[in-house]
Amino acid sequence: MKKRIYITRRLPEEAVAPLREQFDVRMWDLEGESVPRDVLLEEVASVHALWTMLSDTIDEEVFERATELEVISNLAVGYNNIDLQAARERGIIVTNTPDVLTETTADLTFGLMMMTARRLGEAERDLRAGEWKSWLPMGYVGMDVHQATLGIIGMGRIGEAVARRARGFDMNVLYHNRTRRHESESMFGFVYSDLDGLLEKSDFVVLLAPLTEETRGMIGAEQLAKMKKTAILINVARGEMVDEQALYEALKENRIWAAGLDVFAKEPIDLNHPLLTLPNVTTLPHIGSASIQTRLAMMAMNREAIANVLEGREPKNRVT
Ligand code: DGY
Repeated sequence: MKKRIYITRRLPEEAVAPLREQFDVRMWDLEGESVPRDVLLEEVASVHALWTMLSDTIDEEVFERATELEVISNLAVGYNNIDLQAARERGIIVTNTPDVLTETTADLTFGLMMMTARRLGEAERDLRAGEWKSWLPMGYVGMDVHQATLGIIGMGRIGEAVARRARGFDMNVLYHNRTRRHESESMFGFVYSDLDGLLEKSDFVVLLAPLTEETRGMIGAEQLAKMKKTAILINVARGEMVDEQALYEALKENRIWAAGLDVFAKEPIDLNHPLLTLPNVTTLPHIGSASIQTRLAMMAMNREAIANVLEGREPKNRVT
């Protein structure tokens, strides 16, 4: 009998087709919608592999039913949506999709910095709404990106890729990370800083660390108060790293200049969320890795990992 795979979102057929010959593949097939919890709980009870999205919560309740499960492959580099401890206890392999999304996510990060600093979203929205009446000497003036100080919190692969782009803009790069990156320091001139120093000196504070117990809520009222009045906060990591209420207050009272957010504590963000009322916030719907090439490459990684585990081979990119 063929081993069974469940995919929790509709994926392009070209990404799934290579699995269909050897395995029995089922997929939640409603375009634009996450798999309902009761369907996920029912499906997981009989499958050997689960191909998950970062929007799926794979917790103890899911694992309790997963009596046949051998592997979970998550379509993301982050895997904070999966209870790794529960997976380890049951010997279930979890894999993710690092590396292939590094440059694409760095492009988006830089784009969001530009959008936020130069008020591109606001300007474009106004133009379409017929608000562009004439050229104004101080209309839509923003902050310069070139020669500014960039502070990166979480200097992993994506952080380094953003920092490399910053060199082309003559920016000074500070970083804060659990471990020092001595090679990048000497090769590119990136400067290590403690968190407070980075917050105080940076024109852009960019969050790129994984969500862990250590980084959850790491940017709150106290940290925002340390930032310059002209500083911009960029979050392309995970929404839960920022206290959104404290951020709202800091932005509303112009204690920092702006924020660019690709991620939110609750996704999708509620349309009546106070952050969405502020002109100095640029928001995107969690599209860090969203290029056609990268998403297909991520899917290929998931597909290979699943096939490898189900056929008794060691998969790449294990996180358990
Ligand atoms: C990831 O892969 O974890 C990113 O959040 C995708 O943008």
